[in-house]
Amino acid sequence: MKIHILTLFPGMFVGPFSESIIKRAVDRGLVEIAVHNIRDYTSDRHHVVDDYPYGGGPGMVLKPEPLFEAVEAIKGEFQIPVILLTPQGRLFDQQAAAELAKHEEMILVCGHYEGVDERVREYLVTDEISIGDYVLSGGELAAMVVVDALVRQLPGALGSEASGGEDSHSSGLLEYPQYTRPQSFRGWVVPEVLLSGNHAQIARWRREQSLLRTLQRRPDLLDNVELTDEERRFLERKFEWISIR
Ligand code: 6GU
Repeated sequence: MKIHILTLFPGMFVGPFSESIIKRAVDRGLVEIAVHNIRDYTSDRHHVVDDYPYGGGPGMVLKPEPLFEAVEAIKGEFQIPVILLTPQGRLFDQQAAAELAKHEEMILVCGHYEGVDERVREYLVTDEISIGDYVLSGGELAAMVVVDALVRQLPGALGSEASGGEDSHSSGLLEYPQYTRPQSFRGWVVPEVLLSGNHAQIARWRREQSLLRTLQRRPDLLDNVELTDEERRFLERKFEWISIR
């Protein structure tokens, strides 16, 4: 996979991309991340990237020319996704991450200042993504979030035998509780079933905990999960006053 990032602040990416999973994925050649400075694609003497909004109003607007120049230089004749990070985009979730991870190459464009010239939206980008309903100062942190969510899906990125298959959201449910040693910490003990060695019982307990936790914290997620009749009865027993669908 090759991910291009267009930004006015390339330095922001240095720390986050030189640690942990992303660094290892880059070192293993699973992903190449190219951070491009939008300012390098200006052609005027002062390398101007933004200007006042037509019609007036506060803030500056990112000019179209450097963004078109950058994207066209990067993709050449190829059709690759060009994704603008903006609070106006569609919400990024695990399903969107799985869809994006199918692409071999993509360009992430970090919006900044008060906005981006509308012609960039209309004629340059193929998709717009937001990572949540709050406003960030720019698309950079959002781009890092997207890169992390994509990279950890690449085969081999999580190392040894680990897989993200049991993580919160990958099953559509929240993750079950995890424990490690010591068995008793300040008198708080690990659930007996996890020490039993009975793998069927452990799997069942974990599934039930995932279901319970999801119902308590994120009942909206259950709308998109197939429950067995047994699982439905389990939840109804635990929450007699809630009727599940
Ligand atoms: Cl992608 N950009 C900005 N500036 N703010 C955001 C966002 C993106 N997603 C949520 N808030």
